[in-house]
Amino acid sequence: MTLLQRPVLVLLLLVTHHLLQCWIAFGSVDEEGQKQEEFNEELLLKPLPDRKVLAHFHFQSSAPPSTSNGRHHHLFPKAISQLVQKFRVKEMELSFTQGRWNYERWGGFDPIASSNAKPPGVELWAVFDVPQHQVDASWKNLTHTLSGLFCASINFLESTSTYSAPEWSFPPASGNLRYGTLPREAVCTENLTPWLKLLPCRDKAGLAVLLDRPSIYRGFYHSQRLHLTSTASGSKGTDSGIILKQALTVVLQPIQPNGRRASMDHAGEKRIQPSWSLSSIFGKQVRGRCVLAKSSNVYLQLDRGLVAELKHIHKENEKSVANGLTSENFWTYPSFELSASPDRIVIEENSFHGKSSSILYNFQVEKYTESEPLDLGLTWKIPVVWSCQSAPLHSSRFLMGSGNERGAIAISLKSTQLWEGFMGAFDNNERCELQVDVFQVVPWYVKVYFHSLQVFIDQQPKAVSDVIEKIHVSPSKDKVSPGMMEMVLRLPCRVKSAALTIEFDKGFLHIDEYPPDANQGFDIPSAIISFPNFHASMFFLEDGSLNKSPLLSKFQEKSPVMSYTEVLLVPLTTPDFSMPYNVITITCTVFALYFGSLLNVLRRRVAEEERFLKDKATKKTGQLPLLLSKLSAKLRGRPWEPPHSPPSSSSFISSKLVFKVILVAGLAVGWQYYFS
Ligand SMILES: *[C@@H]1O[C@H](CO)[C@@H](O)[C@H](O)[C@H]1NC(C)=O
Repeated sequence: MTLLQRPVLVLLLLVTHHLLQCWIAFGSVDEEGQKQEEFNEELLLKPLPDRKVLAHFHFQSSAPPSTSNGRHHHLFPKAISQLVQKFRVKEMELSFTQGRWNYERWGGFDPIASSNAKPPGVELWAVFDVPQHQVDASWKNLTHTLSGLFCASINFLESTSTYSAPEWSFPPASGNLRYGTLPREAVCTENLTPWLKLLPCRDKAGLAVLLDRPSIYRGFYHSQRLHLTSTASGSKGTDSGIILKQALTVVLQPIQPNGRRASMDHAGEKRIQPSWSLSSIFGKQVRGRCVLAKSSNVYLQLDRGLVAELKHIHKENEKSVANGLTSENFWTYPSFELSASPDRIVIEENSFHGKSSSILYNFQVEKYTESEPLDLGLTWKIPVVWSCQSAPLHSSRFLMGSGNERGAIAISLKSTQLWEGFMGAFDNNERCELQVDVFQVVPWYVKVYFHSLQVFIDQQPKAVSDVIEKIHVSPSKDKVSPGMMEMVLRLPCRVKSAALTIEFDKGFLHIDEYPPDANQGFDIPSAIISFPNFHASMFFLEDGSLNKSPLLSKFQEKSPVMSYTEVLLVPLTTPDFSMPYNVITITCTVFALYFGSLLNVLRRRVAEEERFLKDKATKKTGQLPLLLSKLSAKLRGRPWEPPHSPPSSSSFISSKLVFKVILVAGLAVGWQYYFS
């Protein structure tokens, strides 16, 4: 009886357990309702004035703050949520960049240039939600984790001499921020692959299919970013919502139909812009969305300058149609042609940007399928010349001085004549001023003298206190921490140019601290120049559907206009690393020569006496066979014996020997020939 009952009981238990589990699982889904994990994918394409195309991929995953999920996620990458929870990261950004953003040609005033143009190499900053004294330990552990996650040498940022703690000049600054860069990190596919693995569809479906490695790395600029924000709602940060934004920005050169790359163009020259399509720049087409994505959109943006130019052309051509330009007839106007018809046209709300507002054509990827892929293309019909809007001041940085002892760093700011459009906003002020924040980190071996800071405005030297409103300096400590400089400048609005110079001495490193190829020079990371009075945001008419697009809502965020300067390369005194090798080789050569000749002399004396005697005896025999037999004796390592046998056998030996010598010589010649 009991034997029969037990299995039934176990079965019953199992069944109820299973049912219970199912019920719990359904319950959690129902309970959350709107607070589901979400994934969105978007792509923005934009023709650039210098005949290139910008492609900006934006993937956003979000995990809601919920304890019911436990440690499990449907879409959100687990590695990231573990990282956020373990190190209590409040906000973090990691970027890998190759190439330099061209602020003059590709613009410096739009959200893409301002928040996606990054300095070459790796840049990492993070804000931690931990007590002040634990921040450095958390940073160290975070760099190691990221290093493993992205196959990069981010762990070099763990040493205190490579990172700094900006207090107010770096935009998201707060007490727990750490900032570090690795300007020389080479970026390649091995960093892209782990980044793509964080996407739910990887690069197998959806927009990520376009990320064809050869086409991306052929580009002029590419930058892959990972930005995460955790909205800690729980008391201990254990249950926090996380928003992960992954962006990849590439600038590509369209390939002309005849196979040639569109050649560089001189500004002002009227030539038809190259036509392009997704398949011509990426070699792939979009065959439907990633099924896990909530929304999947492609945008084509015409920037403000281009729209203004097109409107101008339109007005010139059709003077009769005065002011009848709406979005519809603008779109049908035959200055260019789109290969797919847009589902929606979004027009930027004209703010104080003067000239014009940009236009976005929206294409919804879910309408396209395997058999009917989206191959968005733009074909120009008339030549157009325009320029992108740039930041109020164009910044660049260079080195002055010569020699290996001292030098100076100069940051130069040049006005971009943006003022015409903005003057109205400032006229009511008595003193029109332009605020510029400068953030600069210098490695400890570049010993900056902060008292030597000089300011020039329109080439006239100015008192530092007149221009610099606020300055924070943390001097470097040898081998411990880098030097950091944060400044707020107030420049007159009508400034043409401004320059800051600061002198430095070059330090000496220990021989172990030199990187490989130290003769190349040492990098000083990019300085960050930001304009807090200017916001690189775009405003769109409030439309319910727009809130769904993370990319457009990101564009509407108010973020200051920001630009990075060049990385500087400072030559330092480097020891002659080849010297130990040279010493070893020369010593060995001397020893070898000495002992070699000594042995030779000691040995030759006996042999010479013998030879002298035997030479006399065999003076009359033939010279060639004798020589050859001597040679053969040498080769065999036996003492040479004068030929006692009849001459016939000696000639036989000699012919064999000649053959051998020729064979060896032939082999040597062949070897030489083959390998050269
Ligand atoms: C960092 O890692 C070390 C070694 O694994 C560990 O002992 C330490 O507690 C970690 N610190 C933080 C703040 O996570």
